[in-house]
Amino acid sequence: MQVVDAILPARAAFGAVPRPLGFVPTMGALHRGHLELVRAARASCRTVAVSLFVNPLQFGPDEDFARYPRDLAGDCRQLEEAGVDLVFAPERETMYPPGFSTSVDVGEIGARYEGAVRPGHFRGVATVVLKLLNVVRPDALFLGQKDAQQTAVLRRMVRDLDLDVRVEIVPTVREADGLALSSRNAYLSVAQRAAAPTLQRALRELYAALARGDGKENAVRAARGLLDPAATLDYLDVVDADTFEPLDAPRAGAFVVGAARFGQTRLLDNIWLPA
Ligand code: PAJ
Repeated sequence: MQVVDAILPARAAFGAVPRPLGFVPTMGALHRGHLELVRAARASCRTVAVSLFVNPLQFGPDEDFARYPRDLAGDCRQLEEAGVDLVFAPERETMYPPGFSTSVDVGEIGARYEGAVRPGHFRGVATVVLKLLNVVRPDALFLGQKDAQQTAVLRRMVRDLDLDVRVEIVPTVREADGLALSSRNAYLSVAQRAAAPTLQRALRELYAALARGDGKENAVRAARGLLDPAATLDYLDVVDADTFEPLDAPRAGAFVVGAARFGQTRLLDNIWLPA
């Protein structure tokens, strides 16, 4: 496995590999969810590349950029074992040298839900992923359904900017009790960890209540009742998978989405209703 941290050597390395090239962008602190994306990439691509970069542009001023877990050596060990061919792990200054000022405006789709709670977040995500795609130039981009709105924003960007890459969405990997794996789960106290699966239960209840024909207001109230009382709900809704506009009722191709704070830690989850 080759690890590169500068743009020009990375371009040379990625340009020379057997195709198709599958690419998995990450912020490191890898867990089985990330490795599932690697597995999916290996299943359909001759070469697999992963990036490790904690992207300052997608964190708000009061967020966890400074304390976000970082473990380059541990991540590289896991990636090597998983059969990854190339790793791109740039420094902050490599991606954002002095004077950097251009960014991708993703429009309305990035202003709702996660975008409303985290202004500028999706601008940061889209900008770094576009930069990474320009360095790696993969044939396929692998994203986790766990971050449903991120998949919608990036699919939109690929279409809107005519990017020549196929986007593959990989189902969410969960713990045995239903909690979606996330690098941020490491922040949870024992009590918060025990309460965290109630987010997924609330999403299931919202879906079931809507499917029974309850109005959205009642359905959201019933679902909210299943969330641990110590957690703070940011949002709970059913949305169109492409536009992330709210829907009155679930239908094929929709997402039931939710986010809640357990102490300082924000967790998100979703249920996809396949088209
Ligand atoms: P990160 O949170 O490290 O996630 C990297 C990829 O792993 C994302 O596509 C995410 O959806 C996926 N992932 C996370 N948890 C998962 C799980 N439990 N099951 C399946 N896939 C999971 O998302 C980002 O980084 C960044 O925003 C990034 C796209 C790298 C841009 O900086």
